[in-house]
Amino acid sequence: MGSTSRHQNCRSSSSGCTCFSIRFSTILTITILFTSVYVFLSTVKRGSEPFSWTKTETGFNGDLRDAKFPWNSLCFGNNFEKLKLAVFSKTWPIGAAPGGMERHAATLYHALAAKGHEIHVFTVPSDRKPHLDIHEGNLHVYFAANDHGSVNCSLAFEIFNSINANGPFDYVHTESVSLPHWRAKMVPNVAVTWHGIWYEIMHSKLFEELAFNSQEKTPRPVGELHEAMPRLVDEIRFFPSYTQHICISKSAGKVLVNIYQLPQRNVHVILNGVDETKFVHDPESGARFRRKHGIPKNVSVVMGVAGRLVRDKGHPLLYEAFSKISRTHTGVYLLVAGSGPWGKRYAELGSNVKVLGALEPSKLSEFYNAIDVFVNPTLRPQGLDLTLMEAMHCGKPVLTPNYPSIVGTVVVNQSFGYTFSPNVESFVDALKSVIKDGPIVLQNKGIACRKHALSMFTASKMADAYERFFLCMKNPRFCQYPLPTDC
Ligand SMILES: *[C@@H]1O[C@H](CO)[C@@H](O)[C@H](O)[C@H]1NC(C)=O
Ligand SMILES: *[C@@H]1O[C@H](CO)[C@@H](O)[C@H](O)[C@H]1NC(C)=O
Ligand SMILES: *[C@@H]1O[C@H](CO)[C@@H](O)[C@H](O)[C@H]1NC(C)=O
Repeated sequence: MGSTSRHQNCRSSSSGCTCFSIRFSTILTITILFTSVYVFLSTVKRGSEPFSWTKTETGFNGDLRDAKFPWNSLCFGNNFEKLKLAVFSKTWPIGAAPGGMERHAATLYHALAAKGHEIHVFTVPSDRKPHLDIHEGNLHVYFAANDHGSVNCSLAFEIFNSINANGPFDYVHTESVSLPHWRAKMVPNVAVTWHGIWYEIMHSKLFEELAFNSQEKTPRPVGELHEAMPRLVDEIRFFPSYTQHICISKSAGKVLVNIYQLPQRNVHVILNGVDETKFVHDPESGARFRRKHGIPKNVSVVMGVAGRLVRDKGHPLLYEAFSKISRTHTGVYLLVAGSGPWGKRYAELGSNVKVLGALEPSKLSEFYNAIDVFVNPTLRPQGLDLTLMEAMHCGKPVLTPNYPSIVGTVVVNQSFGYTFSPNVESFVDALKSVIKDGPIVLQNKGIACRKHALSMFTASKMADAYERFFLCMKNPRFCQYPLPTDC
């Protein structure tokens, strides 16, 4: 069907060509000839280079399985083909609890079901209490828990097989190892999304060790540091049990090809997205939030941090860096949204720090709008923090460590914010740059952030990319880009 419509397109455009004068069409032919020779030569040249992720996503034309950039950066049109998908997720969110992987799964599969695809999710409730299965339109969620509250694989496969018998699934998707590798081996049509791999976790452990154990008199060994390398070796051995791999950052994609040695054609990058209707640029709500929480009018820069206030989220680093900088720069102010052991210590820092406690999800957008720059001091370079994308959607620049996942995908250059090495000195230097730039420069970077976020990190772009991915896995015709239906 698709090839027919393409033929028709060609025919109508070639009949249009007859209107041109001969000389013009000659010039055109020569131009096309040179262009195709050039494109051919540059493809050959690129093909012989060692594996590299080029940045030429604009004007991409070809097989999507060869794309070396996030699928989110393309614009996919509507297709009428419907999919039947099976999904394995460690948990399914119950209530408004925030959370990384399960929140991502819920956002994605609600969106795909809304697009008319039949989705069957095998999982357990996030609160580990008994719940009835969910059937909402095309979305079916089956809770198959064992005694410990995690997914009972045998039970899940009993349900899976009965649904599969009524009409086979087009594809199976697992969020990380929710479908274990020994089971995945028996499922040929399976794609896995990695939300964090041991190669990255190994770096987290390393940074935590370096950051926390250098000054302490009796260093505590950082948990699992000595286990990291064996875990990595184990992962590299079992990853080939999954057929297709989706990464949530460009850098993780590179690692899967270059270190884990997976075939490049089976590794794809689809970034996570956040709900662009919930996180919006709204300066008025920001001003209201500032008034409500009594932030002084005469402060020069309001920095904000959000999330669990625990050690491995880098709060010891921010605590030390901020107390240093606020001694020399009295106009800086820190707003802390979240709860955890470090909340009390922040509160003791002085009158230029305000600890708000955990915020309702609906208040988060107001919080982002109230600040001038969002600070994410994390020591965990695994996966990608959604808070960075949320802040960018609200038009705020970000200050964050220079991990490959972040500089490769989110803060790709200085237009979007500031990066630092995960140590106090480098952090202080970055804070100084923020203060030196001041609110006007921060505002301009914020505008660039919002534009970038809308072009890459929206929930709808993520859903479009996954939809096209599964269509492409079902029928290679959909691997071609652009299709006549694409925008
Ligand atoms: C898992 O489900 C199977 C099949 O229903 C059942 O026989 C088994 O006892 C369950 N295992 C656990 C640990 O709950
Ligand atoms: C802001 O105003 C308060 C009270 O008027 C004053 O104590 C504080 O020093 C001022 N801060 C700055 C940075 O000017
Ligand atoms: C930063 O990156 C964005 C997105 O790739 C690009 O549009 C912009 O031109 C870049 N800016 C600079 C200063 O390099």
